Amino acid sequence: MNVVSVKIRIGAFFAFAVACSFLSGCVSENYSGVNSSEYVKYSSFEPGKVLLDNNGRHVNAHGAGFIFDGGRYYMFGEHKLKGTLGNKAIVGIHCYSSADLYNWRDEGIALKVSHDPDSPIVVGTILERPKVVYNKKTGKYVMFVHLEKRVGATAKSTKLEDIFKEKPNYKTAQIAIAVSDKITGPYKFLETKRINAGKLPANDADELLKAKKILDEKYPDWKQTYLFTVRNNREKIKGQAFWQDFETGQMSRDFTVFVEDDKAYLITTSEQNSTIHIHELTDDFTDFTGKFVRVLHYGWHEAPAIFKKGGKYYMFTSYCTGWSPNPGRLSVSDSLMGEWKEVGNPCRGEGQKANRTYPAAKADTTFRSQSTYVIPVNGKKDAFIYVGDRWHPDDAIDGRYVFLPIEWENGLPVIKWYDSWDLSIFDK
Ligand code: GAL
Repeated sequence: MNVVSVKIRIGAFFAFAVACSFLSGCVSENYSGVNSSEYVKYSSFEPGKVLLDNNGRHVNAHGAGFIFDGGRYYMFGEHKLKGTLGNKAIVGIHCYSSADLYNWRDEGIALKVSHDPDSPIVVGTILERPKVVYNKKTGKYVMFVHLEKRVGATAKSTKLEDIFKEKPNYKTAQIAIAVSDKITGPYKFLETKRINAGKLPANDADELLKAKKILDEKYPDWKQTYLFTVRNNREKIKGQAFWQDFETGQMSRDFTVFVEDDKAYLITTSEQNSTIHIHELTDDFTDFTGKFVRVLHYGWHEAPAIFKKGGKYYMFTSYCTGWSPNPGRLSVSDSLMGEWKEVGNPCRGEGQKANRTYPAAKADTTFRSQSTYVIPVNGKKDAFIYVGDRWHPDDAIDGRYVFLPIEWENGLPVIKWYDSWDLSIFDK
């Protein structure tokens, strides 16, 4: 064993020991966070700083989605733990609520992982980027979560040491759906699946059929080998990922849900993250109608966050670099299921000075964050807040939140860094 592997083993053991000691007090009902005895009442946003809840604990809701309901904002996110184990769902989806967007009250775990080894949401599953919407017709809250199944020989073990060792491979690429009568839960898990198996998109079925002909004629092994990795051959292999998933259903990884006129849409990264799909949901929001479009073809986007202002739709996304931040991206469309056009990086300015823990958070790394949601501010016309995650994969619980105001420049939304800001910025 060489020095490097000894170090890695010691490091892994240490991380595991820390995770276990932390877990001893938090796997059950008694989940916890980074403790602080101080109770803080906030009157501003301080992007990237530790955000404490009403109990003085680190707000633990990563990859969050927001919904305004009954006069309060609700935030749903991934409850993470210390260390790398914390990137897997050991507890569930955490809910917080707030009257002013600055101060967050702990509402508990809205969707709990299961300890039944056969459950699709067994402890250790990857559950990411939860988003909750309300369905007026059924009176139910519907939660969507990106789900990656556990794989390998230990996939059914509920022992933390086994979960710790498993490598997620992100090949499941499914959307999980859960419902609740009460916004804060408990949410009842309904199902997890790929989307619209056997269906062609509404916008470019002809293109795809042509692409399939080329695949069949020139690349007889297209079903087995993923040719997209041959980047210099892109033109000829368009549609491959789509057709590989045609019978079993299209992939869904990073996503968001947008509701308009009592209709809901899932906007999701599909086809190995190469292309975004926008799927129409059924009237009760728990299934898909079969109608969908492919947009931003082969643009390799992640982390979609959508909002609408003055008849136009705006979508923030990132490039695909895993937990590492990259330049933000903005796309615009006149209709949700219409033509989307990418128009560049919405971030402006040099950004924030580096601090001890994190490298510089500048405009070229989306201020060291990755988009997760855009919050429309209630009661203020055309006021929107960008929310991104400052991931910390080696110590997942310490991921931070970046809330920044959306400003406008030449008719397009822009994001600038503020060490501290408040909602009065929208009154200017
Ligand atoms: C990011 C994605 C996150 C998570 C991560 C895993 O690109 O946005 O939600 O899936 O990759 O590496």
